[in-house]
Amino acid sequence: LKSAGAAGAGLALTGCLGGGDSETITIGSDIPYRPFEYETTDGELTGFDVDIAQAVFTDQLGYEHEFVQTSFDTIIGSLNNGNFRVIMSAMTINDERDEEVDFSDPYFTAYQTIVVREDSDITAQEDMRGVRVGVQRGTTGEGAAVELQEEFDGDLDINRYDQIPDAFSALLNGQIDAVINDNTVSAEFVNGEGEGEVRFVEGEGAAAESDQEAPPYLTLTVENYGIAFREDDDEFREEVNGALETIRENGTYDEIYSEYFAG
Ligand code: ARG
Repeated sequence: LKSAGAAGAGLALTGCLGGGDSETITIGSDIPYRPFEYETTDGELTGFDVDIAQAVFTDQLGYEHEFVQTSFDTIIGSLNNGNFRVIMSAMTINDERDEEVDFSDPYFTAYQTIVVREDSDITAQEDMRGVRVGVQRGTTGEGAAVELQEEFDGDLDINRYDQIPDAFSALLNGQIDAVINDNTVSAEFVNGEGEGEVRFVEGEGAAAESDQEAPPYLTLTVENYGIAFREDDDEFREEVNGALETIRENGTYDEIYSEYFAG
């Protein structure tokens, strides 16, 4: 793992190099975002995105590859400045971003969800009025919070954090009342570090209107993750789309999926 600027200070991982002396694809990512990109207790970089990157860039396409720690809030600018070749960071495909980058085909479906403390009075979206909510700066979780704030005529106190674990710590400490974030990442916290202390807000939401299988709690949005490329990188993007299709067909995708999202 390389680090781009101060955001990466302290991380010193050599990540995931393939064999041979082929070109190295550098991948911008904000770490930690478990289970997509995070370090194990022995400091090894792992996660769903990390394994998909190995399968796509190295096993399928024959490049070496390397993750570069980058702040999520500035990640698109960093890509376009040439700090790395692609973004792979559980990044949601949306129209605003599509104006600045090009995305691969979708590779994962996610939902914005709300996590609160176990003893919270918040049991529905409407109960969010007037509360202090935490989000990661620059994410679609922040976007969902801003929408909610508009719905409440400004009556929502949005607290922005550089990384999602900081928002979860603030929730445990009582500095904020709720966290809006991607469902599977929040589920790791609800079932892990926050077990017994926090819970999802339940109810039907955006996912109920989609054809996806809805998670068993309130969903504010339905989103798809994509790998982001500079707009002049079409040929490489097509190559990556081909590899994504191959790993769906040959079972590699499902194998990786079940490693991180079993049951
Ligand atoms: N899916 C959300 C978005 O695209 C959050 C992604 C945050 N990723 C991360 N590695 N921190 O805005």
